[in-house]
Amino acid sequence: MERTLAMIKPDGLSGNHMEKIKEVILDSGFEIVEEAVVQLDAQRASLFYVEHSSRSFFDSLVKYMTSGPVLVMILERPDAILHWRVLIGPTDARKAKTSHPNSIRAMCGVDSEKNCVHGSDSPQSAAREILFFFGDVRSDTVEHDE
Ligand code: CMP
Repeated sequence: MERTLAMIKPDGLSGNHMEKIKEVILDSGFEIVEEAVVQLDAQRASLFYVEHSSRSFFDSLVKYMTSGPVLVMILERPDAILHWRVLIGPTDARKAKTSHPNSIRAMCGVDSEKNCVHGSDSPQSAAREILFFFGDVRSDTVEHDE
C-alpha cells in the first residue's frame, strides 16, 4: 500500500466539485484515510510551495491558495502517488481539457494556476506533504494484517 497527499484547492471547493471528486477517488480504489478542511495563511501556503518560491507565479499562487479553504486528504491504495497524478491530469487545466478530457483538472480546473487539485509528485513529497498537514499520521508504506 502507498499513501499520497491530495488537495482540493479553493476553486474546487467554492465551485462545488468536492462530491464529484470524492466519487472519482472512491471509484478509483482509493481509501480516504484522513481528511481536513484547512484555511491556509500566506506563511503556510508559502511554506507548502517553498520549492516554487523563485518562480514568477509564486506570489499569485500564494494569493490563490489563501483565497478560501482547501480540503486535504491522505489517499491510500497500491501505487497511490502515480495513480492520483494520472487521475488529476496535467498542471495546465486548459491542456488537460484537450489532451486528458477525463481528468479531474479537465473537469474543474481553469488554467495553469487555478487547476482545482494537487497531488504529491514523489514518495519524498508525499511524506513531507502528509506531515505538513497531518503531523505524525504515518505517511510511509503501511502493512495491513490480514
Ligand atoms: P500544483 O500541482 O499544486 O503545484 C504547483 C502549483 O503552482 C500548480 O499546481 C499550480 O497551481 C501553480 N503553477 C504551476 N505552474 C504555473 C504557471 N506556469 N503559472 C501559474 N501557476 C502555476
